Amino acid sequence: MEKHSSSWFNVESVPEGYVFPPETRPGKLIAPLCKAIPVIDLGKSLGEDQYDIIQQILEASENFGIFQVINHGVSENSILDMMRNFKEFFGMTVEDKESMVNKSGLIYTSSTGYAKDGVHLWRENLKQPCHPLEKCIQLSPKKPTIYREVVSKYLVEVKELSLRILELISRGLGLEPGFFKESSQLQLMLANYYPPCPDPSLTLGILRHCDPSIITILLQDVPGLQVVKDGQWVGVDALPSAFVVNIGNQLEIISNGKLKSPEHRAVANSTVTRTTISTFINPPSDCVVEPAKALVNGLNAPQYSTFLYKDFVNSYGAFGSDTEAILKQICEP
Ligand code: OGA
Ligand code: NI
Repeated sequence: MEKHSSSWFNVESVPEGYVFPPETRPGKLIAPLCKAIPVIDLGKSLGEDQYDIIQQILEASENFGIFQVINHGVSENSILDMMRNFKEFFGMTVEDKESMVNKSGLIYTSSTGYAKDGVHLWRENLKQPCHPLEKCIQLSPKKPTIYREVVSKYLVEVKELSLRILELISRGLGLEPGFFKESSQLQLMLANYYPPCPDPSLTLGILRHCDPSIITILLQDVPGLQVVKDGQWVGVDALPSAFVVNIGNQLEIISNGKLKSPEHRAVANSTVTRTTISTFINPPSDCVVEPAKALVNGLNAPQYSTFLYKDFVNSYGAFGSDTEAILKQICEP
């Protein structure tokens, strides 16, 4: 396949290098959209209703590890501008996009980037470091012209939302106020672009994985995210202006296994381009991660050992995204 083509995906059938083996490809089975994944209205998370919202968040995080939020405080304009910005960004030529590669941590991966066992993902991706934000934004793309302004505004708003959700979670778990303050300063953003695919049953946008974050806030324009629920893949609906909130591995560990970090993946579709923005809250690399002391006692033994976040991340590279193997190697008590 031509490397320098701005429309690598404009093909009638899936090129060989993109076909996943039968064990990992989605196959013909269509995963139904799961209507049971909770949609939580954060507009009411002030005053008396707060207790109710906290319960909803905890329950969703225990049962699904994933939920959606509406009335979340991130402005409609920011959301629309972000989508517009990244549709325009990924619409540029591969040469233009590749000229951004490795500039201060900003990494563009075209479809030629290998996923696993030499198979390519059906997506393009841009990794935008966000910490410290002012510095990162000065080094971020100048094209589209709205990029810097739109992305920095969005990241500030989404960080505020992430910290607010973490604060509600820490109260729900019975941790002290501000528990996540130290560990949750590092934001990281990925923009993903999944073009239409002639046969989505053969390909994957993102392989099955858990996020190695504390928490992830995902914006998606059309469905394509799937999550494992009771051993089955189910689809997560794309609600207008809603965010998908995903519990990351670190939060599962801090909660001593009470909250679940779900396995998920992204599939392509045959009709429309899909754009998503993932914003992760990660611990600093030297952060000590362990089950919160307040959650461990005579009745509740620690399910995980104490480790440094960077050791977790390093083995994420070594083990691919096989979370079970990482947890066994790094976090077994
Ligand atoms: C991720 C992720 C899902 C999507 O970026 O970690 O799972 O639908 N993204 O893009
Ligand atoms: Ni993910």
